[in-house]
Amino acid sequence: MKFFIDTANLKDIKEANDLGILDGVTTNPSLMAKEGITGAENILAHYVKICELVDGDVSAEVIATDFEGMVAEGEKLAALHPQIVVKLPMIKDGVKACKYFASKGIRTNVTLVFSAGQALLAAKAGATYVSPFIGRLDDISTDGMALIEEIRLIYDNYGYETEILAASVRHVMHIINCAKIGADVITGPLSAIEGLLKHPLTDIGLATFLADFKKGNS
Ligand code: E4P
Repeated sequence: MKFFIDTANLKDIKEANDLGILDGVTTNPSLMAKEGITGAENILAHYVKICELVDGDVSAEVIATDFEGMVAEGEKLAALHPQIVVKLPMIKDGVKACKYFASKGIRTNVTLVFSAGQALLAAKAGATYVSPFIGRLDDISTDGMALIEEIRLIYDNYGYETEILAASVRHVMHIINCAKIGADVITGPLSAIEGLLKHPLTDIGLATFLADFKKGNS
């Protein structure tokens, strides 16, 4: 299972990368704005900085919502760095743009996916990744994890190679359940990834080992 971090914060990206378990980064326009990255040139430069920090795929989202605009923007993003994956919204022109990029060998991540039907369309259009948003479904009292299960079943039925990138991951149990179901990738904040480290018995056990060592060696 691949771990992506879902942020545009360079410090968090570096911290996850230093742990040695990071496979890539996802960003979106809200995450870029949160870091105060504004203006076309600054945004493009920030994507390059992220690519230089991490050895893995970096999703960069288009802002255009029409086919021609998405193609122009996506081609510019893809030309920035070989690690860039063009992130496209799950709308009609996004599906068309996905098919176009697939035919050109440009990798894509179809985002804002909330149903199995949308995921099926993304796979048929040749998406590299599909991003179902678990947390946002949970937020509206829907079972986000059930969507991951449905997509896994559908993709396995037909051998689609599109990778299931479970997005809007908020906590450790999202990651564990995705791993059980067989999501190919999860993307979440540093807190969810680092949450995997924690267990009170580990802390108690280590404190005891160190205290016992100190007793015997003082
Ligand atoms: C996916 O690529 C999105 O950037 C992200 O996972 C959305 O997460 P959120 O619902 O926590 O904003």
